[in-house]
This record gives sequence, C-alpha cells and structure tokens, in this order.
Amino acid sequence: MEPPTRSPGGATRCRRAEHVRQQLIYLIASSLKVLQLTTTEVALPKFCRRLQYFLSSEAAGASWRFCNMFDKPALIAKFIGLTVVLIWGEIKFALRAAWVRHRARWLGATAASDRTRNIVIVGASFAGYHVARIVAHSLPPKSPYRVVVVEPNSHFHFTWVLPRFCVVKGHENKAFIPYGGNVAGAPDGVIRWVRDRVESVSPASVRLQESDEEIPYDFLVIATGSKVKGGLPSRVNATDRNEGMKRMRAIQDGIEAAKTVVVVGGGAAGVEVATDAKDLYPDKRIILVHSRSTVMHRFGKILQDAAQKGLERLGVEVILENRVVNEDAEAGTVTLRCGLEIPCDYYLRNGICQINCTGQQPASDVVSGLSEAAISSTGHINVKDTLQIADDDLPNVYACGDVAESEAPNPNARVAMRQAAVVAENILQAARGGRPTHTYKTYWADGVIKLTLGLDRSVSYSGDGVSELMFNGKEKEVTLMAAMAWSRMGQKPYEDNYHEADPEDVEAGKTEGT
Ligand SMILES: Cc1cc2nc3c(=O)[nH]c(=O)nc-3n(C[C@H](O)[C@H](O)[C@H](O)COP(=O)(O)OP(=O)(O)OC[C@H]3O[C@@H](n4cnc5c(N)ncnc54)[C@H](O)[C@@H]3O)c2cc1C
Ligand SMILES: NC(=O)c1ccc[n+]([C@@H]2O[C@H](COP(=O)([O-])OP(=O)(O)OC[C@H]3O[C@@H](n4cnc5c(N)ncnc54)[C@H](OP(=O)(O)O)[C@@H]3O)[C@@H](O)[C@H]2O)c1
Repeated sequence: MEPPTRSPGGATRCRRAEHVRQQLIYLIASSLKVLQLTTTEVALPKFCRRLQYFLSSEAAGASWRFCNMFDKPALIAKFIGLTVVLIWGEIKFALRAAWVRHRARWLGATAASDRTRNIVIVGASFAGYHVARIVAHSLPPKSPYRVVVVEPNSHFHFTWVLPRFCVVKGHENKAFIPYGGNVAGAPDGVIRWVRDRVESVSPASVRLQESDEEIPYDFLVIATGSKVKGGLPSRVNATDRNEGMKRMRAIQDGIEAAKTVVVVGGGAAGVEVATDAKDLYPDKRIILVHSRSTVMHRFGKILQDAAQKGLERLGVEVILENRVVNEDAEAGTVTLRCGLEIPCDYYLRNGICQINCTGQQPASDVVSGLSEAAISSTGHINVKDTLQIADDDLPNVYACGDVAESEAPNPNARVAMRQAAVVAENILQAARGGRPTHTYKTYWADGVIKLTLGLDRSVSYSGDGVSELMFNGKEKEVTLMAAMAWSRMGQKPYEDNYHEADPEDVEAGKTEGT
C-alpha cells in the first residue's frame, strides 16, 4: 500500500515522533479516564478498540503507518489538553469573581451614579455577552468603570438549535434564553443593560437607534456578529422572543404542509435542516441543492463523507455543483443554474418555496463610519492579535466573534467566546492602566464542529490540517444542548416569565430585526 500524501509538516513530526512516542502513549492511557469523565457523546468503547489497535500495530508498523497512527492520538491528546485548559479557565474565573464579590461585601462598591467611565459592548450574543460576563465579575469593586451592554433582542438567541426547531414542533421557546444570568451577582451598578440597537459609532461615543441617546465610551467592544437576510433557519431576525417563535412555527407548518421541500445550501445549516425534515417526514421529498462538489466543503473529507452518507441514509436527494438561481412562487418551482425546474410547494403562500441556508454576512455596518481601514474586503472587521481594531487611532475599540476577521476556518460560538475572553482581559488590563497583552491566534480546536444528521444522530468532528478525527454520537434529546445552554447561562431550563409582546409594538415594527 502506498503511503498517504502528507503535509510538509508531517515529515518533521515523523522524526520527532519516536522521541515523544512513549510519553504520548502514557498520556493517552492515563487520560482515558479524564476523557470518560468529560465527554458524554463520544463512542468510547470504539475509541478504546482503536487505541488498542494503535498500540498493537506499533510493533509491526512500517514507519509511514506509525506516523499516521501518531496523528490521531496527538489530536486526542490535544482534546484532553483543551478540556483541562477550559476547566482551569472557568475555575480561575470563578475564584476571581468570588474575590471581587467578597471585597465588594466588606469594603463596599462604587455607586452606579459614580461609575462615570463606560465600557460599551455592542451586541450580547456568544461574544458580547461573554465579554460582559467576565468584565462585570472582574472589575475591582471600587472601579469607576461600568459595563454598558446594548442589545436589541429580548433574549439570547441560541443559534445551535434553530435548524432543529424550525422543523420539530413544540420547542421554540427553548431557543430563547433570558438575559441576566451571566451577569447576576456582579457588584451593584456595574452593569447597565440597554435594549436598543447602536446606529452609529464615533471615536468617543455610540448613538442608539430607538432612544437617540448618545453614550460616551472609554472602551468599546463591537460584537455584532453575522446577519442573514433571509432570517430563519439561520437567524431569527426578530428582536422579540414571541415574534421569533411565531416565525419558527410558520416554517414548521410550511414544511409539514409541503410535499416537496427544497433546501438551498449544503453547509451545516442546510444539512441539519434537510436531515431533520426527512427524518421527521420520511414520505416528503426533501431536496438539498448545493453549489460545491461536496456538502460541508469547508471541512475535511471524513466529515464531508459522513454528511453525504447521513443525507443518503435518510433519502434526502442531493444535487451538487448547482445553484438555485430563481424561484417562482406562482408556478411553485425553483430553477437551478443548469436549467432544471423543481416543483416545490413549501411555504407558497408567503411567496417562498424553498428554505434558504445560503450563509451569512458580517454585521459590520455599524463601524463603517468609524474606520474604513478596519473593514476587510469580506466586510469583516480587521483586528490586531490583541483584537483591537486594525486602526492605530482607535486603540480602545475592540471587535470579536463572527464580525471580526479571523483566520478560523469555521467561525463558531467557541471561537467567539475565546476571542471574548481575550478582549475582556485586555480591557481589564487597560482599565488598570496597563497595555493590552492578551492575544488571539486561531488553532486546531477552532475547527471543531458537531453536526446533527437526523433527529437522533450526530457526528463530532475535528481536523487540524494533518489528521481528522470524528466520533459518531447518539442524540438522546430532541432539544440537543438547549438545557445545558440555559444552565450555563445561569437560567433554570426552561423557566421564563417573559410577557407577551405588545401587539402595538409588533405592528409598529419595533420587534423586527434587520
Ligand atoms: C443555524 C446556526 C447554527 C449554529 N450552530 C453552532 C453550533 O452548533 N456550535 C457553534 O459553536 N456555533 C454554531 N453556530 C455559529 C455561532 O452561532 C456563531 O459563531 C455565533 O453566534 C457568533 O456569535 P457572535 O456573538 O459573534 O455574533 P451573533 O451571534 O451573530 O450575535 C450578534 C449580536 O449582536 C447584536 N447586534 C447586531 N447589530 C447590533 C447593533 N447595531 N447594535 C446592538 N446590537 C447589535 C445582535 O442582536 C446579536 O445579539 C451556528 C450558527 C448558525 C447560523
Ligand atoms: N452544527 C453547527 O455547528 C452549525 C450548524 C449551522 C451553522 N453553523 C455555522 O454557521 C455558519 C453558517 O452556516 P451555513 O450553513 O448557514 O452557511 P455556509 O457554511 O456558508 O454554507 C452555505 C452554503 O450555501 C451555498 N450556497 C449559497 N447560495 C447558494 C445557491 N443559490 N444555491 C446553492 N448553494 C448555495 C454556499 O456556497 P457558495 O460559497 O458557493 O455560495 C455555501 O457553501 C457556519 O460557520 C457554520 O459552520 C454551525
């Protein structure tokens, strides 16, 4: 058998392999216990068998095979290291927050009215809400700073479950997590929460859309994420929870009533919606149209193959290397670039006969008037390693999450939160008079993804450019990780006494997003 093609870095690693082999094997063996404790959905017995195979084939192995074997355990070891680092980060955060609370109790804290210096955070999703959490719990109690969060949404939108809850009925409320839990317990007066949208940003202040208020800032964090013109199933595009739930139900009803549904775009959102829809309604015709030669083309081959097989297993029809170029609601057809017309009766009444999962754009408009130089050709915000925006005249302006230009192959919530932690620490440092020294660099774990392939199956995938690792998972809960997300955000799943939206507000368009 021919050795597999290897990257240039592979040869060096092969030479180093012999020296670190023993230590790594020891690390893996002793870490199995940790893995058992820290993973829930990994097929551990299968993993153990693979590990056994790896260890036994070591004796026989030709050198290429040894090196190939070596990559996967290295990736596993990295996973374990990552878990340890994450746990340690949370412990450090909890200890620091407890110390701040303790000092505030004994020595008192600066009154809200005396907190005259603002750290303004624009957008409170994975990135912005995490910055707010860290900074609010870490500022010294006597600090003159306060955190001002500006966010138009009534609730945190848990994007991970949007594709699922646009298909499966009865769980829409679970995608909307009440705000507050992450900043609860911070000293009084540290947080000001403003439900509004930032319309424009100047070098010294932000202007709000609804109230027209101008808020001065000492530090500014742009965490405005991504936008999707078509809205669900990728983004809610409604600021009020109840309006959002209504929109999800409309899609569920549309799919339920349709005979044929066309899903456009074979990225993660498209694959998840298509497989869920076919799993729930096996008699419907579900067609996935994707522009590239494989679905999930941003990822490695084993995930592409797994997604393709998952679609085939359920009977989703996949059309590759084609694009939807037109839809005719009257005729009930969508037209592909190749000229093929597909009859499609999903959601006809609203003039749409397809589900669009065609991707998202960075929501950077808000800074366009502040610094043209900082906007990249893709519309992202260029940032330095410290996540200050790439404009030396604006050292106190940071950007993080989906809106920031990062080399991450798969921008996701973990990347957003990792960047948020860097921004938060830099602001804390600068607020103490220091220079921001924390930096963000993309690394292998940024590419990790868990992809559902039907109602009860998923794959968790990681690739580091050399080797790929994938675990099959069984999903016990149709609600996926919603309950965990509520708990992680300091809320009891799924308790929410949110009032009904004021019909006048809905009518006046106040509950609509972009
Ligand atoms: C369907 C779907 C499923 C996903 N599943 C996963 C998953 O399983 N795992 C994973 O890790 N990642 C997943 N992702 C990716 C993840 O959701 C994003 O990477 C993440 O949401 C980025 O967070 P963010 O805070 O940067 O931005 P966003 O989540 O886009 O949030 C931006 C926030 O800014 C606010 N905002 C925007 N403009 C303004 C303004 N002018 N003024 C004030 N506020 C403003 C918005 O209201 C919003 O709350 C998924 C994405 C999608 C679309
Ligand atoms: N489980 C998860 O973790 C999860 C779930 C959902 C989303 N996400 C994340 O959220 C982000 C957005 O995901 P996404 O799936 O919405 O977008 P995406 O990854 O950008 O995929 C959308 C795909 O649709 C294709 N496309 C666009 N227009 C088309 C057309 N008219 N006809 C056919 N194909 C078309 C695009 O290809 P072209 O480039 O050729 O236009 C693109 O590859 C990603 O970062 C993703 O990883 C994660």
